[in-house]
Amino acid sequence: NDQKRKQLIDGLELLTKFYHYLLTTAKYGSPGMHYLENRGFNAEMIKQFRMGYAINSWDAVTHLLQKRGVNLEQLERVGLIAKRGFDNKYFDRFRNRIIFPIFNMRGQTVAFGGRTLGDDKPKYLNTPESEIFHKGNILYGYHLARQSIRKKSQAVLLEGYVDVIRAHQAGVTCSVASMGTSLTEAQAAALTRMADTIIICYDSDTAGIEASFRAAEMLQGNGKIIKIANMPEGLDPDDYIRKFGGERFKSDVIGASQTLMTFKMAYLRRKRNLSDEGDRLLYIEDVLRELTKLDRAVERDHYLRLLSEEFSISLESLKKQQYQMYTRVQ
Ligand code: GTP
Ligand code: MN
Ligand code: MN
Ligand code: MN
Ligand code: MN
Repeated sequence: NDQKRKQLIDGLELLTKFYHYLLTTAKYGSPGMHYLENRGFNAEMIKQFRMGYAINSWDAVTHLLQKRGVNLEQLERVGLIAKRGFDNKYFDRFRNRIIFPIFNMRGQTVAFGGRTLGDDKPKYLNTPESEIFHKGNILYGYHLARQSIRKKSQAVLLEGYVDVIRAHQAGVTCSVASMGTSLTEAQAAALTRMADTIIICYDSDTAGIEASFRAAEMLQGNGKIIKIANMPEGLDPDDYIRKFGGERFKSDVIGASQTLMTFKMAYLRRKRNLSDEGDRLLYIEDVLRELTKLDRAVERDHYLRLLSEEFSISLESLKKQQYQMYTRVQ
């Protein structure tokens, strides 16, 4: 089994090198290289993240694997090649796509994501879960971010591959991605093990914002500081950095990130019309409900005070109200 695993890892390493070679060799890789240049990725990032290019061929990878005597069945199982029904011949899964190797925590390639250069669907074709790839256990970019996370005791959590690469290029090297918006317990544990502060910077769309709350709730506890970064509606970190530059990303997005509670209060506020008395009471209840989820008494107290000051309600009655709400749901 260990033997099999090693064969598989070796096969994926061979392909990582092959795709990277294709990308960086003008004769083969120019469509891919032009795409990456247009998106503003530099040579250093292309090398560090071992990006590659799958040429527009049905059998480039299959041929290489045959030539090197790699077990084709194994690579079929991990989704790199597929078998045609009518003659049982293998063919390449990735054609004319930018290749992002997905690394495990040790930096070994365990899967690939392939992005179309154009608008075809799916935008990203990913190799499926396998004996060596459990998506939920992986934080994209972890092996390159680990040192920086440890040193600052801070991690920045993003959604996508390109966001991580862009953030690293801008110098925010403590960035990793959950590869989509559903953070798993395993990913959360890996993050909180290494850092005291975790800043969530998902895409600024409804899905991303709602997912930030879920992620923050999973991460909080154990005395960690969990923050959420705020970007203009519709942008993701890659878009933001391209538009406003890395320095502004550091100061206005990462630097200005807010605690979950402050971020949530702003979000809950947007749903209500605070000049209406009924809405105001509903907002206060919304906030009190959220406050019961905080595990630190000092933190709860801090927000209760803010609420008390803003709405001129005594702390005592806020606490009483909260207690009533709490016992009602028990
Ligand atoms: P760009 O369009 O290249 O900037 O990518 P993005 O990272 O902005 O993509 P998006 O915000 O749509 O998605 C974030 C992450 O979700 C990606 O990095 C992928 O891991 C995943 N993802 C997005 N689209 C797909 C898809 O069509 N299929 C799969 N399997 N994963 C996807
Ligand atoms: Mn799994
Ligand atoms: Mn999105
Ligand atoms: Mn995005
Ligand atoms: Mn994007």
